[in-house]
Amino acid sequence: MNTAPLLECHAWANLAHHAESWRQVRLAELFAGDGERAAQLAAEAPGLRYDYSRQRLGAMTIRLLAKLAAERGFAARREALLSGKVVNETENRAAWHTALRAGDAAPSEVRETLRHMKDLAFRARNEKRFDRVINLGTGGSDLGSRLLADAFADGALDVRFAANADPLDLSRALEGASPQRTLFIVASKTFTTQETIANAEAAKRWGAKTFYAVTANAAAARAFGAAEVLPLWDWVGGRFSVWSAAGLAAALAMGFEKFEEFLAGGREIDVHFSAESPERNVPVLMALVGIWNANFLGAATHAVLPYSSALRLLPAYLQQLEMESNGKRVDREGRELEYTTAPVLWGAEGTPSQHSFHQLLHQGTQLVPCDFIDVSAGEVLSANLRAQADALAFGTQNAGLPPHLRCPGNRPSSILSFGSLTPRGLGRLIALYEHKVFTQGVVWNIDSFDQWGVELGKTLAKELLEKPR
Ligand code: F6P
Repeated sequence: MNTAPLLECHAWANLAHHAESWRQVRLAELFAGDGERAAQLAAEAPGLRYDYSRQRLGAMTIRLLAKLAAERGFAARREALLSGKVVNETENRAAWHTALRAGDAAPSEVRETLRHMKDLAFRARNEKRFDRVINLGTGGSDLGSRLLADAFADGALDVRFAANADPLDLSRALEGASPQRTLFIVASKTFTTQETIANAEAAKRWGAKTFYAVTANAAAARAFGAAEVLPLWDWVGGRFSVWSAAGLAAALAMGFEKFEEFLAGGREIDVHFSAESPERNVPVLMALVGIWNANFLGAATHAVLPYSSALRLLPAYLQQLEMESNGKRVDREGRELEYTTAPVLWGAEGTPSQHSFHQLLHQGTQLVPCDFIDVSAGEVLSANLRAQADALAFGTQNAGLPPHLRCPGNRPSSILSFGSLTPRGLGRLIALYEHKVFTQGVVWNIDSFDQWGVELGKTLAKELLEKPR
């Protein structure tokens, strides 16, 4: 393992030099001069295609970035991740979320928990004891299930979510519900998160009769009165827990078979990630492109634009995944960093986003690399998506236009294309971003699996509540 500071790496120096030659290069000229560019700067993984030809880079850039990853010990770190070794050093834990979707190869406790989920989902969806399910959780105990349910709920149960400390959130989830016919899932790895426990207590006061819990703190859940307790393990990080029983609300909303499809999609990407060379490895390429944009082209933010209403919650999901993971300022040796780590991730569903912030993407003063997600939701959507990517890349062609009408172009984006939106496809998509985050963390030499930065605010809020100033 190379523990030298990143800026002292041989490959980093080569990249810095290489970047000089890219400052003035224009995408329009690259495409005009190379008819193979679109085909060459693309890669495939099961069920999807990643087109990064509109990025401001070339094949040599990718080779140099791959060398940098190799110099940072990427292969050994990937092996450690996938085999469940400790990769979260500050908490002395594995981050073995891939084991949650490993199918027959999953640890027995995972398979047992999936059987339990299957049974609960079957009963809840068929026995008609409940007509409402409310998931009480926040962060990783909320965002994943919420995203899946929003994309794939089939209406068999009315599944809702309350995450906010604001009582309005729970009261909206309770509208029209009856205490006898509402199932509450308290999803909290720690079972100490203030807003989740406050919402669970409020549900009790409302008259709630049935609670299930998903937690690593079974004793607290039982003391609270949960009728069913499903486990989480210390090797499952909150923002990687949608694959676990933290996905129970999603399984109830869409049915367990579809949840299994979702797991299978993640598993396919794990195989791809573990086996492909960097130049053909989609999550690795996504990571390398992101490093190039952040560290060498100076992009401070990154937009994710799913062209699908079913994926409208994807940006919020990825915000936690990327920014809680890689929003770090010291390396694994504790040294303060002299380079940028995770850019601010933001985004929204297209096409509405086009009538909101795309003006800034096309003519603003900041460089905002974009990921367009195409799930073939209709030809109008796909045409608009490609139009946006082309407009960003090539701008207006007429040099005689007055300045306010000109779009300068040369703004980088990638397109991730899926034939359709399915639970399996969403599993693939989320796993791609997970491995992208991991790969970037390896290059930046940070711990992508802790989140100490959220603790101070929690402590101060607790102190203020106990002793108001
Ligand atoms: O505060 C951040 C965080 O710890 C996330 O990492 C986590 O997903 C969320 O809070 C919820 O934590 P818990 O599942 O323990 O309630």
